[in-house]
Amino acid sequence: MSRPTSPLLTLLNHHDRWVVLTGAGISARSGIPTYRDAKGTWLRTEPIQHGEFLQQEAKRQRYWGRSLIGWPGVRDAQPNDIHHALADLEQQGLIDLIITQNVDRLHQRAGSNKVIDLHGRLDRVLCRDCGAGYEREEIQQHLQRLNPHYAGFTAQARPDGDADLDDHQVASVKVADCLACGGVLMPDVVFFGGSVPRERVESCKRALRSSEALLVLGSSLQVYSGYRFCKEAKQLGIPLYIVNEGVTRADDLADLKIEHDAMEIFLAAAHDYAQAVTGINV
Ligand code: APR
Ligand code: ZN
Repeated sequence: MSRPTSPLLTLLNHHDRWVVLTGAGISARSGIPTYRDAKGTWLRTEPIQHGEFLQQEAKRQRYWGRSLIGWPGVRDAQPNDIHHALADLEQQGLIDLIITQNVDRLHQRAGSNKVIDLHGRLDRVLCRDCGAGYEREEIQQHLQRLNPHYAGFTAQARPDGDADLDDHQVASVKVADCLACGGVLMPDVVFFGGSVPRERVESCKRALRSSEALLVLGSSLQVYSGYRFCKEAKQLGIPLYIVNEGVTRADDLADLKIEHDAMEIFLAAAHDYAQAVTGINV
């Protein structure tokens, strides 16, 4: 039985070169909840600030203690059907670039190659002093050795690999230092108050300039670093389409806003598109 053609399917057939901007809503069905709800209200405890992290040992203790408990939730999350559908659309030549605000690497694990991790990646750790890079998992094992009293603590997955730990518990956390130089380790992510590297933004803008459409999936666009690409698209005369379950900051800029679960709307359109292109019923 054929489904009624969705506006999104019509658009997928209409444009050949897409840039897709994804946010936390895309990973929700992988068991990683969003930062904000459908009304745009912040759902989390106060986020860590870039400057505080670098300047205050107590903030680093808070970050690494909570991350010691929270990281496995992100590490063990699996890509969902939306990640897989986007990887398929890339294979079919439709996607020039995925700009993701997510730090969970689920797009890459689903097989997408053309991805820019706008806010960095949680699976990497960098030394602020000597520049050494580490797998997050290596640092996890180091943290576990330093903090054996936290063995067995578990937490629900969070989008930034955070977990709740009270102040009393945080005070006893031993922070892991750089294994090479003893310097300050920081996850390879952009904290609040930090900035996205300029060349990363430029690469996104370059892809946008040569694209035919920008599709936003599962982001409230509250944060300027993602929102700016919506403004940029409109300035370039490129249409902006949004599928998000809830309000976004760019609703008034959008040529089409579908306020719905991307799992239904986007997935149905992507599957119908793939079926028409490949003749295979996925
Ligand atoms: N389909 C579509 N939208 C969904 C779904 C779904 N299945 N599930 C949730 N959503 C919507 C939520 O209602 C919300 O509007 O996804 C949106 C996610 O928005 P945010 O939680 O604000 O996530 P995001 O826009 O990625 O946040 C941007 O904020 O804190 C910073 O650096 C952090 O990268 C993050 C940035
Ligand atoms: Zn170092």
